[in-house]
Amino acid sequence: MNAIQLEAYIRDIPNFPKEGILFKDITPLLADPQAFGAVIDQMAAQYEGKGIDVIVAAEARGFIFAAPLALKLGVGFVPVRKPGKLPFDTHSFEYELEYGTDTLEIHIDGVSAGQNVLLVDDLLATGGTIKACANLVEKIGATVAGCCFLIELGFLDGAAKVAPHECFSLIKY
Ligand code: PRP
Repeated sequence: MNAIQLEAYIRDIPNFPKEGILFKDITPLLADPQAFGAVIDQMAAQYEGKGIDVIVAAEARGFIFAAPLALKLGVGFVPVRKPGKLPFDTHSFEYELEYGTDTLEIHIDGVSAGQNVLLVDDLLATGGTIKACANLVEKIGATVAGCCFLIELGFLDGAAKVAPHECFSLIKY
């Protein structure tokens, strides 16, 4: 299992969703249960015993990794969603993303003050999305214990934007 080269399961798609963007397509990895399982195992190994209380992730691709990781760590999963999708009262935060701007929301009672929250996403690009998630969590009075990604686009320097929160990623480009 450790011998799996995760990069081999990421497909490059030139000029998607816009001219000049080289999109990292994770669907070949998701389609392979050994590679997908290895990702969740490696993420869990990084955070087991670290006192994580809950996992928070933004739709849509963040959910894919956050839900199995939450089950593996034995903690709850709280979704962050695009505006108008959550049924209860929410906190919201406007942010810049890789291809424009957007707003994210979280239920006001999704996370409790004082909890240690692990943020999870498939990709760290500019850091706008994960920074927005961190802001939402901190609005509630909880602590961001770390930020976990499958892929980090190091050349966009998203980790600097997310600092002082710690970023961990399995694949770096
Ligand atoms: C993508 C990706 C991350 C984010 C990374 O999501 O899944 O959440 O962009 O970019 P950033 O670091 O510059 O914020 P997207 O907004 O495309 O939504 P999706 O998951 O619904 O496709």
